[in-house]
Amino acid sequence: MSCDARSRTSRRDRELIVHSSPCGSVSRQSFTHSPVQLLAISGSLRALSSNTALLRVAAEVAPSDVHITLYDGMAALPHFNPDDDVEVPPPAVLDLRGRVGSADGVLVCSPEYAHGVPGSLKNLFDWLVASVEFPFKPVALINASSMATHAHASLVETLTTMNANVVRDACVTIPVARDEMDPTGAITNTAIRDQVRRMLDVFTQEIRALTQ
Ligand SMILES: Cc1cc2nc3c(=O)[nH]c(=O)nc-3n(C[C@H](O)[C@H](O)[C@H](O)COP(=O)(O)O)c2cc1C
Repeated sequence: MSCDARSRTSRRDRELIVHSSPCGSVSRQSFTHSPVQLLAISGSLRALSSNTALLRVAAEVAPSDVHITLYDGMAALPHFNPDDDVEVPPPAVLDLRGRVGSADGVLVCSPEYAHGVPGSLKNLFDWLVASVEFPFKPVALINASSMATHAHASLVETLTTMNANVVRDACVTIPVARDEMDPTGAITNTAIRDQVRRMLDVFTQEIRALTQ
C-alpha cells in the first residue's frame, strides 16, 4: 500500500486505524466498528410476555458491538389521529421517532391476536407512517409462535408498505413454549438463545453491509 493511503470512512463512523513504520510506510491496518444500535419493540404489553422475553434474550446474547434497547413506551402512545400528526406531535410520539431515528435497525417481536397484529403495535406503526425516521430503516421480525403466521405476514406487508427495509434473512420463527420461561419471565433454554444470537448476527451483518 502506498504511503499516501487514505483512511476511508462510512456513514456509521467506521474508523480505519493505520499503523505506520518510522519510514512512513503503512505496516498494518485494522477496522473498528462503532456499535450497531438496535431498538427492540415488543407487540405485547403483558408483564410476563414471551415476546418481550425473547427481546430481552436478544439484549443478553448480543455481541459487545451490538447494543439493544428495549422500547418501553408503547402503552403511553396516544391513539393515532392524523389531526395530531402535526409538526410537533405528542411527546410520546416524538420520543418514539427519536429512538427509531437514532437506531441502526429495529427488531420486532409480536404475538398474534385474532389472526392480526395487536392493536397497540399497529398504533405504534401508524405513528411512524408519515415520519422521516422510519423509511428505509432495516427491520427484522422474530415470531415467537409457529402458529402466528397471519400477524407475521401482516407485519411484513405493513412495514414494506411503509418503506421499511425488511431484512428477510433475519426474519425468523423461534417458538417459545410457556414452560420455556421461568417464573420471572426469563428464558434460559440455550437452543433458543443460540437461535436468537444467530438471527442477530445475520441482521447486524446486513446492517453493516448497508452502511459500508
Ligand atoms: C386476545 C387474544 C387473541 C389471540 N389470538 C391468537 C391468534 O389469532 N393466533 C394465535 O396463534 N395466537 C393467538 N393468541 C395467543 C397469543 O398470541 C399467545 O398467547 C402469545 O404467546 C401471547 O404473547 P405474549 O406472551 O408475548 O403476551 C391470542 C391471545 C389473545 C390474548
